[in-house]
Amino acid sequence: MPLLDNQGRLHQYLRISITEACNLRCIYCRPEEDTKTCTVTQRIQTMPADQCVQIIRIAAQLGFRKVRVTGGEPLLHPEIEKIVRGIASVSGIEDVSITTNGTLLANCVRDLKQAGLRRINISLDSLKRETYAQITLRAALSQVLEGIEAALQAGLHPVKINVVLLKGINEEEIPEFLAFAREYPVHVRFIECMPFLPTATDLFISTDVVKQKAREAGLPLIPIQENGSLDGPAELFRIPGAKGLVGLIHPMSHHFCSQCNRMRVTSDGSVRSCLLRDREVPLGNALLNPEQAYQAFRNALRLKEQSHFLNVPSQEKEVQIEQTSRVSLCVPHGRIPGNELLKKQMYAIGG
Ligand code: 5AD
Ligand code: SF4
Repeated sequence: MPLLDNQGRLHQYLRISITEACNLRCIYCRPEEDTKTCTVTQRIQTMPADQCVQIIRIAAQLGFRKVRVTGGEPLLHPEIEKIVRGIASVSGIEDVSITTNGTLLANCVRDLKQAGLRRINISLDSLKRETYAQITLRAALSQVLEGIEAALQAGLHPVKINVVLLKGINEEEIPEFLAFAREYPVHVRFIECMPFLPTATDLFISTDVVKQKAREAGLPLIPIQENGSLDGPAELFRIPGAKGLVGLIHPMSHHFCSQCNRMRVTSDGSVRSCLLRDREVPLGNALLNPEQAYQAFRNALRLKEQSHFLNVPSQEKEVQIEQTSRVSLCVPHGRIPGNELLKKQMYAIGG
């Protein structure tokens, strides 16, 4: 039975967060008091590999075809290779990808490719050592650059670089990132910062600034017409003579909810049908009780709404939150101070 919601959206793309641990502490992602940050060498397991693969088997039977493994930082999981191999061998799954911060990538990307990994997204918010450290609170830029190089050498395609635009912090680096897309065969994707943390609200800038900076730098961004120029939520552009492409992802200024084909499994084992709404259904133990897990996907889909409401005026929001809280399947999570909206953060949902 395909997962088609009441808006006619067919859900074939699942993102699964296998750990909420991370070895970075990006200022827009990790709260100050976070204790689940670990060192660069520590390995932390959250979701056991066999659970993870079983969830994907169930998802494949429900019609999911693409899986993205996320975190936290998924490469911290000691069984990451086993997880990728397991997912890639599930009948019906056509595409396995990972989103990583890239710090641990150089040593394992070949093995991951052999295990069945097809594509990779690497987070890189600055090309300058100091700014990178200011954003992530770790001095790890050179490891990430080595990771990108290794991913290209391993033959992953495309390699996508995620750049979260941060007002007053990395907006001046837009021309450098455009030059990066010219020099390397990667997709550089500029992403609007979503308000998972109160601090993130002040960091928001629209992706429109990229077009403006590109014009100023004399680098025309030419829309790619095939597939309506969309690659998932990214609006894609090319720069004449460039080896790579440029993408703009604008969940805030122009949301793309009407085309959403995604669901998410959180690191604590719940299904979530929207990144930006706190409605989740627990999967239970998918190995012992697969029927509950099937039902969790179906119920989560029923909770999916037409769109997120982060840019709706706050009075209207309150009415909608009241309505949301009446849903009995919704699992309550701790509150983020100053943000009444999103109770679970990106690193547990998986982006
Ligand atoms: N807004 C936008 N992107 C975010 N990411 C993490 N938190 C946010 C946020 N608040 C990005 C990371 C990574 C991907 C998983 O999501 O930088 O590239
Ligand atoms: Fe870690 Fe990604 Fe969050 Fe940065 S954005 S702290 S890399 S989970």
